[in-house]
Amino acid sequence: MKIALYPGTFDPITNGHLDIIQRASHLFDRVIVTVAVNSSKTPMFTDDERVSLIHTVLKEKKIKNVSVESFNGLLVTFARKKKASVLIRGLRAVSDFEYEFQMALMNRKQEPKITTVFLMPHERYTYLNSSIIREVARLNGNVKDLVPTAVQKALKQKLTAK
Ligand code: COA
Repeated sequence: MKIALYPGTFDPITNGHLDIIQRASHLFDRVIVTVAVNSSKTPMFTDDERVSLIHTVLKEKKIKNVSVESFNGLLVTFARKKKASVLIRGLRAVSDFEYEFQMALMNRKQEPKITTVFLMPHERYTYLNSSIIREVARLNGNVKDLVPTAVQKALKQKLTAK
């Protein structure tokens, strides 16, 4: 049983993240999307909202072998607890490489038995990240086709509630 974690902040999940999740779901027996709590970022969506949005999207897309959990602390500690041997990260462009290289090597130093696997999302998503989605949504731009419908709705709600 090969278990992989797909960690990130997911503030909010985008179609780029979803693309990686779908690819990973075909490669591993079980994938756990792990939402980082208490990261250095100040998220727009609460921990529970980020988990719940991912949950909704997975259900909508009928992705069966993928679940979602939040985690606190060191990633490899959580991976050990979940008996995961793989960490998945998306590589969108060369600019991602240095940060990802550093994280992968540090995670390997902490736990040599856990391997980071990089997946490339579809090229239509290479320019996406969560910050740019939040900014465009905040300024009333169009995020259709870039995030799942549930996220579009959640962004609208969050921004009109302000
Ligand atoms: N499509 C669209 N956007 C993507 C993407 C994809 N396929 N892959 C990454 N991104 C975006 C994210 O939305 C995020 O955008 P943002 O900065 O605008 O929010 C950015 O790229 C990268 O962030 P993300 O993938 O969410 O990861 P992160 O850098 O926020 O998360 C953790 C990093 C949580 C995995 C890392 O900090 C961690 O492991 N923390 C736990 C503590 C620990 O163990 N530290 C030691 C690590 S060596």
